Amino acid sequence: MYILLIGLVAIVLFIYYRFKYSKKIQVSITSKVSPVDSNFNWKSQQPLKIRPFIGKTNFNPSIGLKNITSTPEDWLLIENTYLKNIKVRKSSIENNQSKVLYIHEDIKAKLALAEFFQIVCQFLLSRYPKYFKLKNGIIHNLITNESFSINESNSIEILKILGSNIEEDFLIMFKEDEDSEYRVKSSFTGFPAGFDPSINYNKTISYIHKPVPQYNKLKFSMNKFFNNIKSQNLWVRFNWSIQTHSNLFTFNNHGRPGETMKKLNRKDIDFANGCFLRNERQCFIRLPKSNALVMTIRTYLTSMENIKNEEKIGNELIFAIDNLPDDLAYYKKRHEWGDALKEYLND
Ligand SMILES: *[C@@H]1O[C@H](CO)[C@@H](O)[C@H](O)[C@H]1NC(C)=O
Ligand SMILES: *[C@@H]1O[C@H](CO)[C@@H](O)[C@H](O)[C@H]1NC(C)=O
Ligand SMILES: *[C@@H]1O[C@H](CO)[C@@H](O)[C@H](O)[C@H]1NC(C)=O
Ligand SMILES: *[C@@H]1O[C@H](CO)[C@@H](O)[C@H](O)[C@H]1NC(C)=O
Ligand SMILES: *[C@@H]1O[C@H](CO)[C@@H](O)[C@H](O)[C@H]1NC(C)=O
Ligand SMILES: *[C@@H]1O[C@H](CO)[C@@H](O)[C@H](O)[C@H]1NC(C)=O
Repeated sequence: MYILLIGLVAIVLFIYYRFKYSKKIQVSITSKVSPVDSNFNWKSQQPLKIRPFIGKTNFNPSIGLKNITSTPEDWLLIENTYLKNIKVRKSSIENNQSKVLYIHEDIKAKLALAEFFQIVCQFLLSRYPKYFKLKNGIIHNLITNESFSINESNSIEILKILGSNIEEDFLIMFKEDEDSEYRVKSSFTGFPAGFDPSINYNKTISYIHKPVPQYNKLKFSMNKFFNNIKSQNLWVRFNWSIQTHSNLFTFNNHGRPGETMKKLNRKDIDFANGCFLRNERQCFIRLPKSNALVMTIRTYLTSMENIKNEEKIGNELIFAIDNLPDDLAYYKKRHEWGDALKEYLND
């Protein structure tokens, strides 16, 4: 009798924990995403104004993460740049495929990418039902008027679909058995800023950040952060730089050790159409099934004319430029554009 009872309790507990566990591992940030307002129109959606230098007094590199788990809607954004930027991405897929997209040739990487694809599809369908419609296994994008199969299983095709439907770039990372750090196993980089993205394929976080000044100071907390991200959480951070051209796709925004920089004069720079504040909005999630980490990166360009005349934050930017530590100033190439830009903003 007792044995029967104990057996029964064991079975009940087993089922309970199995259920609990399986429910737990299913939780992803798409599980409670509400749709945009019915009057949402992508064409009138103003880009986020990310100005991470405002209000700061210390300009040393920092991680600066913010927990935005309570608003999973804010993960992937559709703004009035959508069609224009998707066009740039498609042309890079055509012309520069090996630089733009990457999948490590193993089953774990392919499964993680497929999982990410499903999460992005679910997000787009839940968040933007007006623009993404699912019918018979096909998702129709009503902004581009193109469609794709939600069942796509070829990794290269998945990467092309993702790159042509969201403005965010992404890195998918996991640890190999022998690794203590996350390693890039798949990525789409439509808007590279400083470096050729292909040098980071199959590389660790530390390798990728080698050129970043003071990375050694951040390494410990960065690894700790990556290790602790939960699949139901969403984190965001921002960074900024200045560029004196209008390209979203560039390998040249960062100073490399030993590089000689040429100081630009004010008249060399077109501040309305050829000089921009460049921001990255980086989000971090964990994929519940594969346990891989994903960093999504949204890139913004804001013309200096806007910064100066519309937003009127020239003084704040000058303060930031003046207070960059030397190593970071070099990394951001301040020597090239610093004085000319300050002269323009001061005018
Ligand atoms: C992040 O925010 C969520 C929701 O507000 C909260 O449940 C969670 O504990 C937070 N995580 C950390 C590490 O602060
Ligand atoms: C690929 O990108 C590089 C770097 O911007 C550029 O020099 C090259 O011309 C591109 N290749 C093609 C085929 O467009
Ligand atoms: C996609 O997969 C689902 C579920 O496996 C299936 O019901 C559907 O018919 C498939 N659609 C296409 C277009 O292959
Ligand atoms: C998509 O189709 C709609 C309706 O026919 C049209 O108004 C819109 O211009 C099209 N968009 C593109 C990018 O072709
Ligand atoms: C990826 O990196 C791992 C760890 O360094 C290495 O063992 C493996 O050979 C690399 N794979 C490829 C295809 O480069
Ligand atoms: C912004 O962050 C990315 C990823 O960490 C990095 O590659 C890039 O160099 C950063 N840009 C600046 C200007 O710090």
